[in-house]
Parts: sequence; structure tokens; C-alpha cells
Amino acid sequence: MDRNLALEFVRITEAAALASAKWMGRGDEKAADQAAVDAMRKAFDSVRINGTVVIGEGERDEAPMLFIGEKVGFKRDDSPEIDIALDPLEGTTICAKGGVGAISVIACAEKGGFLHAPDTYMEKIATGPAAKGLIDLDLSATENVHRVAEANRKPVGDVTVVVLDRPRHTDLIAEVRKTGARIQLIGDGDVSAAVAAAWNDSGIDLLMGIGGAPEGVISAAAMRCLGGDFQGRLKFRNQEERERATRMGVKDLDKKFTLEDLASGHVVFCATGITDGPLLKGVKILAGGRAQTQSVVMRSQTGTIRNIEAFHNFSVKKALS
Ligand code: FBP
Repeated sequence: MDRNLALEFVRITEAAALASAKWMGRGDEKAADQAAVDAMRKAFDSVRINGTVVIGEGERDEAPMLFIGEKVGFKRDDSPEIDIALDPLEGTTICAKGGVGAISVIACAEKGGFLHAPDTYMEKIATGPAAKGLIDLDLSATENVHRVAEANRKPVGDVTVVVLDRPRHTDLIAEVRKTGARIQLIGDGDVSAAVAAAWNDSGIDLLMGIGGAPEGVISAAAMRCLGGDFQGRLKFRNQEERERATRMGVKDLDKKFTLEDLASGHVVFCATGITDGPLLKGVKILAGGRAQTQSVVMRSQTGTIRNIEAFHNFSVKKALS
């Protein structure tokens, strides 16, 4: 994948982050999400790709924009065919409440590189490079914690596990606590949490539990770039969800998906902070129609991680548009 594209994608997540950040703390999840979707959709128009959304805002009949199967980009004859997994606002509630760690995110792969995950749940486990190959969804939480502790050369009591704070995780939380490991319970945003598990010096060692399946694929893309590890297994709430998965091409509904099953080939991951979080600072709205954003863009091909701090001057941008 053309490396210059990686920087083009940052413009897209920046646009979505800037738009949704205006809604921070206003308690209106829908408006914040819509602002991010509109801005991201518009920003795609200037990027020279033949893009297809494979993880998006929903199926065509439920999402007017950035729906699964939608073609995006400024297509020319020589534009590369790219599959896109996106979440214009990951952490809708976080943004609406002005909480910690809302991001705008895009991951891209060569055609066929991403699992076409339906909008169901996924059981997930994620860790950093040191414990790559050692974690396994088929093992108990206790065994996984011990393996990660050993790989990260820490006593179990110093291991930090992130878990979404949900009633469905009561048993998981109890088991992890029994190992003696520390737990960070988060209200939302398990993409950031998965990335943090592989992020140098984040202090997070492991993500475990059930979250959104689309977010799982996006997290896997990040782990490919960071050299971490991730596994996922779809969790269905009803027959309709199972049928939806089959329609989307999932052959084995109970399969344990490895990192490469979820995101293969050359992958790019790009995220911009909306609210302040463990990885990225949120959008700062400054005086004089200016704003500051912080983004990260990573490529699996080279393992390069770029942190991009940008100052936007809307008095000038407006005049140009
Ligand atoms: P949204 O941005 O779509 O609201 O998702 C936030 C999130 O916390 C994800 O990070 C996570 O994977 C999922 O929701 C968990 O779903 P639920 O809130 O139903 O437990």
C-alpha cells in the first residue's frame, strides 16, 4: 500500500475528530456521531483510492453514510483497491459525556484483508509484542494473566488488565482479581484499550472480555502494526445475528479468529484523539478559530509509528474551501 496514503488517512480522522469534538460533553450522542460521520465521509472524497467500506456504520438499510459496501475515495483508473474498517467516533458515550479516550479511527488493508465482521459482539484478548503467541482465548483468564506476567517480566500483582465495565464480565473480573492482577475497568472504548496493551510504556498488559466485533477487527489492524497479539470469537445474542454473520461470509460462526484471520496483508491504522485518553490527546479548541489535534498513524509493512500533532487554522481553511 502506498505509504503516502497513510498521511492522507490522518486528514480523514482529523476531520472527523474536529467535527465531533464540538459536541463534547453536550450529552447528545447522535449529534456527535453524525458530525463525525459527515466529516469523515466528506474527507474521503479527496483521497485517491478505490475504497470499499467493509466495517462501517452498519448495513446499507440502516446507515445512510459509510455503510458496509459503500465505495469511498476519489477513484481514478490507477487508484488502489482498498478495504476500509472505520469508526468515525469510537466512544460515542465518552464524547457525549466529555469522558476519557474517544477517538476517530480508520484501518485500511489490501482488498480482502479484513474479516467482514457483523455488528455483533466478540470475545477478545489482546496483548503486546512480548507475549505474542502466548495468549489464547481457549485458556482460562488465570492462565493468560500468568503467561503475560512472565512474558512481560512482572510479578502477577503488577499486571494491569483492562476490562469493559459490564455485568457480563462479573465472572471474568472475579477470576482476574483472584490472580492478584490489577484491573482497569473502562466504561467504553475497547479499541484504545487494545492498542494500549501493545503500546510501549502504557502500563497496560492485557485486554480481555466481550466488546463490539467491528471494533475487534479495527483493534486487530492496530495490533498488526504494533507487533502485538489479538484473538477474537464472535458472540451472538440471537439467531438473527448468526444469520447476518453468515450473510456477511463468516463460514465458521464459532471460530477462534487469530490476528491474521482478522487483519491480513499490509495494513494501515490511523487514529485521532477526540477527548483526552491514554494514547492520544483530545482535540483542543483554541482561540482565533484554531484547533490542535493529536493523531497516530502506523503501517504493518514497516512497523513505523508516527505521532502527528497538527494545528488547524479555520480562518484560513474556510477561505480555501
Ligand atoms: P460506540 O462508539 O459505538 O458507542 O462503541 C463504544 C464501545 O464501548 C466499544 O468500544 C465496545 O467495543 C462496545 O461499545 C461495547 O459494547 P456495549 O456498550 O454494548 O457493551
